[in-house]
Amino acid sequence: MGALQNRHLIGLEHTPAEDIQKLIDTGFTFREVLERPIKKVPSLTGINVVNLFFENSTRTRISFELAEKRLSADVTNFSASSSSVAKGEGLKDTIQNIHAMKMDCVVMRHPVPGSCLQLSRFVDAVVVNAGDGTHEHPTQALLDMMSIQEKFGKIKGLNIAIVGDICHSRVALSNIHGLIKMGASVTLCGPPHLIPVGIEDLGVEVNHNIDEVIEWADALNILRIQRERMGIGIIPSVREYRDFFGITEERLRNHKKEIVIMHPGPMNRGVEIDSSIADGDQAIILDQVLNGVAVRMSILYLLLAQEEEGGH
Ligand code: CP
Repeated sequence: MGALQNRHLIGLEHTPAEDIQKLIDTGFTFREVLERPIKKVPSLTGINVVNLFFENSTRTRISFELAEKRLSADVTNFSASSSSVAKGEGLKDTIQNIHAMKMDCVVMRHPVPGSCLQLSRFVDAVVVNAGDGTHEHPTQALLDMMSIQEKFGKIKGLNIAIVGDICHSRVALSNIHGLIKMGASVTLCGPPHLIPVGIEDLGVEVNHNIDEVIEWADALNILRIQRERMGIGIIPSVREYRDFFGITEERLRNHKKEIVIMHPGPMNRGVEIDSSIADGDQAIILDQVLNGVAVRMSILYLLLAQEEEGGH
């Protein structure tokens, strides 16, 4: 049995608070490793990990690969565009081939919600969700919470706002599950049609007035406005979005308060966030990226190294 309650990391909805804290705390231990001259430990020697990316990614894909290599795992990378998926092969056949190759761990990003849970039912390997459609992105939420804990020394009792297109955001859903379990208060802010009806049932508040939300919040986690959705009329115009919900220099200046700025990336500078804010002193966006490597080391270590020791 591994060090965590669940054998796979599919989402934070079913991850207990004590495991979230353990993942964050172990992430800080690996942050120290990343500060050393030799940033490598032998924890996953002899373990095979495949990174299966059926969707584009910069941060998640690179940081998983880096985390695996820092832990001395054997790493195989797969991207749908350069594989036989491009020739029409389906997910089931791809999975069966991966299974035949006796991988120990599969890190998967896929456009279909629920695909990682499905994968975990087909393979013996440990499965880590690197983002499944509009469902969850648990490793992003863990790095976000680790960054909040690093900045404030705690998560419990903080006011955290998530701003943007909540409806289509796996980052938002994983953050909501994680932050609520860890004792933060969460408010969602965005256009009414981009906030799911009944989401308050998850324990969050909804406020469509960004200026009230800025007054309330200790930190803003600002989501990417998915420009590809504008073509189908979900967002009327970039300019209108920026006027109502954009985190602009002028808007923050008017509030005269300390607030921490977060963004999971990729950013649309000049739309949901001004460049000067993204690069300013209150932003911890690049700390989030570094913590992404550390927390992914923590996830792989707690799921895999401990499983080996326990002889699963
Ligand atoms: N935050 C995030 O998931 O970024 P990528 O899509 O670049 O991996």
